[in-house]
Amino acid sequence: MGVPWLAQVRCLHLAIFALAVIPLLLCLSYFNTNQLHTTASPLRTYDIRLVQGNTSLSERSIVVGTHASGTSEAPQPVAASHQTNNTNNTSGQGPDLTRGVAAELIYEAGHVDVNSQICPDLGKNIKLLITVTSAPSHESARLAVRETWGHFAIRKDIAIAFMLGATSNQTLNDKIDKEQSLYGDIIRGKFIDTYDNLTLKTISMLEWVDNYCPKASFVLKTDDDMFINVSRLLAFIAKHNPEQRAIYGRLAKKWKPIRNKKSKYYISPQQYKPSTFPDFTTGPAYLLPAQISKDLYVAALNHTYFKLEDVFVTGIVANGLKIKRIHAPEFLNKKGIFYPLQRAKRNQYTHGEKYRTIRSMEKITRHCKV
Ligand SMILES: *[C@@H]1O[C@H](CO)[C@@H](O)[C@H](O)[C@H]1NC(C)=O
Ligand SMILES: *[C@@H]1O[C@H](CO)[C@@H](O)[C@H](O)[C@H]1NC(C)=O
Ligand SMILES: *[C@@H]1O[C@H](CO)[C@@H](O)[C@H](O)[C@H]1NC(C)=O
Ligand SMILES: *[C@@H]1O[C@H](CO)[C@@H](O)[C@H](O)[C@H]1NC(C)=O
Ligand SMILES: *[C@@H]1O[C@H](CO)[C@@H](O)[C@H](O)[C@H]1NC(C)=O
Ligand SMILES: *[C@@H]1O[C@H](CO)[C@@H](O)[C@H](O)[C@H]1NC(C)=O
Ligand SMILES: *[C@@H]1O[C@H](CO)[C@@H](O)[C@H](O)[C@H]1NC(C)=O
Ligand SMILES: *[C@@H]1O[C@H](CO)[C@@H](O)[C@H](O)[C@H]1NC(C)=O
Repeated sequence: MGVPWLAQVRCLHLAIFALAVIPLLLCLSYFNTNQLHTTASPLRTYDIRLVQGNTSLSERSIVVGTHASGTSEAPQPVAASHQTNNTNNTSGQGPDLTRGVAAELIYEAGHVDVNSQICPDLGKNIKLLITVTSAPSHESARLAVRETWGHFAIRKDIAIAFMLGATSNQTLNDKIDKEQSLYGDIIRGKFIDTYDNLTLKTISMLEWVDNYCPKASFVLKTDDDMFINVSRLLAFIAKHNPEQRAIYGRLAKKWKPIRNKKSKYYISPQQYKPSTFPDFTTGPAYLLPAQISKDLYVAALNHTYFKLEDVFVTGIVANGLKIKRIHAPEFLNKKGIFYPLQRAKRNQYTHGEKYRTIRSMEKITRHCKV
């Protein structure tokens, strides 16, 4: 009677043991395979693929994609919940700027990316710093700049930086982080990147120049859809003194504020009372000595904010500081110092093997590095 009973107990023990061990084994094997997927270097996977045979770019991006989602898994939930709250309450809202608000009250000082290496030794040996206004989603425009006239940044006396604002789109932020780790030429301010916040972007640029590049000679402010003939610009700079307190560019004289509330360019009397603006240099490209950036920055914060950055900074603020605005014909000429990048790309910069080779090499390095 005792013996079969004991056998039953043993059987039961065995069964319990098996039940306990199987999940453990399953668990172990799960972690093993999972680890292979998430922590094994994607670079290595990529190397193997390269050796084994050629793969298309789309296959490569899948490798990169898996890696990306793997690394961002942990911080994502926090960022995401923070983001939804932010999106609801900040984007497009904020104070009613047409009532006249001091720039100081809406500008948050500081930068997300400092990237002070763009200007070594505070720009002591930099003849020309080019700051390119760009929107977070304009990755391809930034690439086009880097691949065309932006190559001048390899010179020790020239620096190029892209000025961006903040976005609550996490996908986009992840993309910019990757772009940043690859090129290190992006400077992000703390304002939301919108058209109405363009003036904040220029203020952010002035702050950055004052903090990290005050010893450079000149700063050119331009946009990511412009082609800059850097050789011509250097020739222009050679003829001008960085000690002179002046801003050079295409001069706009006696422009009037638009008082039509429906216009994208509406400026209320509370924001700017007189019926004409002081002369200003137009936004697509203007040049200023780096050493006046501090005065411009400080004074800008003490003015009533409005969104036309060129009028605001090179017109009203510069006028208040008695900084001259000088018309330079080189900035006006259709084939001058700057013109739309599209035209440049259609001409000498898109045709030919050279350009295409640079593009495809760029793609490969982009996918490799991540
Ligand atoms: C692999 O390379 C060969 C020649 O180098 C090419 O003909 C072929 O299309 C490539 N295959 C893929 C999948 O890219
Ligand atoms: C963010 O929003 C969620 C609901 O969408 C809410 O429960 C939470 O309290 C909010 N957090 C803050 C800090 O406002
Ligand atoms: C966020 O905005 C949406 C509509 O834009 C609204 O339905 C939702 O209630 C808002 N959430 C909060 C927490 O205010
Ligand atoms: C946004 O925040 C303000 C206070 O900061 C609050 O009064 C308002 O209800 C919020 N709006 C939404 C849509 O959450
Ligand atoms: C966020 O950015 C990604 C990548 O640029 C884009 O595809 C997506 O549409 C954006 N999402 C929103 C809600 O704007
Ligand atoms: C400008 O940025 C501020 C925060 O930096 C934000 O509160 C505001 O909504 C933005 N303005 C627009 C029009 O997006
Ligand atoms: C840049 O300007 C020079 C004249 O200074 C001109 O010879 C050259 O063609 C221009 N380059 C481009 C790409 O426009
Ligand atoms: C700010 O502006 C006021 C008058 O608008 C002026 O008295 C003051 O000196 C200015 N401050 C600075 C730091 O420019």
